[in-house]
Amino acid sequence: MEIRRIRISDAEIGMLVAEDVVNGSGQLIFPAEARLTAKAISRINFHSIPFIRIYIEDEETETDTDVDELSYFEKLKDSEEYNTFNEQFTDVATTFEREMMRVLKEGGDTDSVTLSNGVKKILGSCRSGIQVFDLLHCTRNYDEVIFAHSLNVAIISAVLGGWLGFSKEDIDILIQCGIYHDIGKLAVPKEIVEKPGLLTSEEYAVMRTHTSRGYGILKDMQLDKRVKLAAMMHHERCDGSGYPLGVKENQIERLTKVIAIADVYEAMTAPRKYRKARCPFEAVKLFETSGLVLFDTKYLMTFVEHIANCYMGYRVKLNDGTIGTIVYMNKQDGTRPMIRVGNKYIDLFRNSELFITEIL
Ligand SMILES: [Fe+2]
Repeated sequence: MEIRRIRISDAEIGMLVAEDVVNGSGQLIFPAEARLTAKAISRINFHSIPFIRIYIEDEETETDTDVDELSYFEKLKDSEEYNTFNEQFTDVATTFEREMMRVLKEGGDTDSVTLSNGVKKILGSCRSGIQVFDLLHCTRNYDEVIFAHSLNVAIISAVLGGWLGFSKEDIDILIQCGIYHDIGKLAVPKEIVEKPGLLTSEEYAVMRTHTSRGYGILKDMQLDKRVKLAAMMHHERCDGSGYPLGVKENQIERLTKVIAIADVYEAMTAPRKYRKARCPFEAVKLFETSGLVLFDTKYLMTFVEHIANCYMGYRVKLNDGTIGTIVYMNKQDGTRPMIRVGNKYIDLFRNSELFITEIL
């Protein structure tokens, strides 16, 4: 790689330093072979060091790396892990669908143990919460939306419960809350549940009944009380603007608050027949701008922070069409990371006109 001497005023975040930066008394200010950060540039400036040596990175090499990164999801889809995840997911979703159809037709109890064990098996075969999100990103292809959505919510809630430090017992119940939270939708006409686009106000009123209908379906079953409450209350919001009861923060069950976040996130980011998936960064931004009064603040902030970190190293498209790779997450704003484009770096935190529109 070519080495070039540049003025510190021309230094950019992310440049690779070729030679130790030392001050007049020989003190090391910044080491060679490390990338410049905003803090490093201001430190070098502070020591009035006018020039530094940096590597001029080969554009082609960078592009090759990018092509490699471009196939990240393709590679994941070819992997053993993906096949296992997909098979297990389809298995649990099929059992869940069959099971609920039987219960609705013949009555009786649901086999919550088999279903939650299925979800735990899916989670157990993933290396980390981050990998679960990677795999969910690729796997949303089960046809029956209610069942796929419910399992996704169960999976996301379990991961969030882990991030929040919940006990194993709470996470077990959380998984069941996710599995059954939307069960009332099976009692709402399919034309309404699967209607592409916006519902009329009459249709929306019917759709909202899925909460109390869900509670009605579950109330006499051998399930933890919190599972039944989650079906009833997962559309309640902390400021009292939710339904069906319009209750506030302290009246909403703790696990239900987790389900509410996972439910909205899943609904925003999953592709549907009638619309494209919303980019997770857009979903996180919506949470940050309008979610704070609606959801439990601590739960939401934990979720947002971890989700943003999940996408480190991903290729993303910006609103001006630029394609780059996320190389650094911003602590102040998880939705505005640093992006590498070739050998240039764009700090979205400092470029407010740019934002991520798509994860590639
Ligand atoms: Fe719902």
